[in-house]
Amino acid sequence: MSDTRLRLGVNIDHVATVRNARGGAYPDPLRAARLAEEAGADGITAHLREDRRHISDADIDGLMAMLTVPLNFEMAATEEMQRIALRHRPHAVCIVPEKREERTTEGGLDVAADRARLADFIAPLREAGCRVSVFIGADPAQVEAAADVGAAVVELHTGAYCDFHAEGRTAARDEELDRLRAMSAHALALGLEVHAGHGLTYDTVAPVAAIPELRELNIGHFLIGEAIFRGLTPAIAEMRRLMDAARG
Ligand code: PXP
Repeated sequence: MSDTRLRLGVNIDHVATVRNARGGAYPDPLRAARLAEEAGADGITAHLREDRRHISDADIDGLMAMLTVPLNFEMAATEEMQRIALRHRPHAVCIVPEKREERTTEGGLDVAADRARLADFIAPLREAGCRVSVFIGADPAQVEAAADVGAAVVELHTGAYCDFHAEGRTAARDEELDRLRAMSAHALALGLEVHAGHGLTYDTVAPVAAIPELRELNIGHFLIGEAIFRGLTPAIAEMRRLMDAARG
């Protein structure tokens, strides 16, 4: 496998959202993770939110026990989540901002405003062997702060790009895409590995996947929704195909 291949991390949070709507055991996010692995996912992403609205602690236990691909454990920078991450030592930890009232992770983490605390927060996770990423907007101050606080990876937030696309605001979309391109190059030049994700769909993935500095995309909500219509395996296979085609 070439080391410039773009990895696909499949986020299974919203399988748990549907399960939790009825409070039972179905659909099982672990079964979705297994299928995603078989369909060619290079990693599984799961966000243990403070309010446990989708993924549960037991889901994380199960994923750690069964996955054959790396787990990207998304979490807020809280003491509770740090304890959980240090207990499990997942391959990757992605630090995201979290507000209880939000429907999803709405913006990037303000790393620049919280440098000292985040540096202290990240150090033990690094020492435990986790690759730590921070989920940030395409902003030079945030990229530089990510390098300063000891992150190994930045995940660039593609939500604004996808929202502009959905709203038909093509000039704003293209400007945001230019920022994503520029910040990918900037982050790589600072020694950071570059990932991206949030809100990506079949319609929006190609220009992002074509950014040469990117190493991984994390995609969830759209794939789980699309799985209703065509099944999870074909939904993932089509995303993989579009990513590979964009990569040329
Ligand atoms: N990357 C990060 C850091 C996220 O928080 C999320 C959403 O949980 C995603 C990627 C995936 O976003 P979506 O579910 O919109 O594809």
